[in-house]
Amino acid sequence: MLLPNPISTQEIHLPLLEENGIRLSIKRLDQVHNLVSGNKFYKLKYNLEEAQKSGFSTVLTFGGAFSNHIHATAAAARVEGFKSIGIIRGEETIPSNPTLSFAKSEGMQLDFINREDYRKKAEDSFIEKLKEKFGFFYLIPEGGTNSLAIKGTKEILGKEDAEFTHIGCSIGTGGTFAGLAESILSHQHLLGFSSLKGDFIHSETNHLLEENLINPLGKYSIFDAYHFGGYGKSGAELLDFIKWFYSETQIPLDPIYTGKMMFGIIDLIRKDFFEKGSHILAIHSGGLQGIAGFNQRLGTSLPL
Ligand SMILES: Cc1ncc(COP(=O)(O)O)c(C=O)c1O
Repeated sequence: MLLPNPISTQEIHLPLLEENGIRLSIKRLDQVHNLVSGNKFYKLKYNLEEAQKSGFSTVLTFGGAFSNHIHATAAAARVEGFKSIGIIRGEETIPSNPTLSFAKSEGMQLDFINREDYRKKAEDSFIEKLKEKFGFFYLIPEGGTNSLAIKGTKEILGKEDAEFTHIGCSIGTGGTFAGLAESILSHQHLLGFSSLKGDFIHSETNHLLEENLINPLGKYSIFDAYHFGGYGKSGAELLDFIKWFYSETQIPLDPIYTGKMMFGIIDLIRKDFFEKGSHILAIHSGGLQGIAGFNQRLGTSLPL
């Protein structure tokens, strides 16, 4: 069974925080499970429960070659006794990387499809073809976001988090943000930092809230200026920030999601977004598994 480790919340101490009269803590979801890290633990929890209840023995999902979701689903499926299939974007010529090697070692069957076909992954006719090829399976969408994932991410915040005035998280598909939006209290302000380029993220995230009948008690804002060029893109400023943050706190951040969120939070502090006395809780949603592959691909030396 997927059981969570106790989760710690660490307060961070930086001169900038003291100068501005602001406190910043980080909730280490990256430590929630040794193999199923971060928000993925919460997103998969009720999906796998549902798959079990409905009698499925196989789960199938989608992702890129460095996907945190593929990594986590492979491990969670193995722990829960499912066979797993990962439909991977790109040709098999992609050299094996730590993410895919791990997924394989957890028993995931990998199937590589080209980018054009990958775009059809939500279409009924495409899913039917997958059923013909693989038989019955429980489908988990790319990034793992659906209503059962949101039921899980709603459990990220607990009673102990009531003291915080702001909650920060990173946004990809929006499932984590939606769960947090459902659980924030009336005095809390949820800040979502998009890892993707484009202002579509506002309508897409709002649509997800509407679809799931989520009316947050507190305020929420989405920031779209901290994507560093878009999904999977980074650059020296972000990489230097991640190294600096590690040297100050010994907390590793990934360049795809949590690094961008933390960069955004620190930037907003510098820009006086927060009132004096604010206590921010940043959600560390994991993603550290991707750093080894990132370093390997780009020749960087981000701390793990
Ligand atoms: C480490 C990490 N943080 C944050 C996110 C963004 O979460 P969501 O897709 O629920 O917006 C993801 C992607 O799922 C992720 O892998």
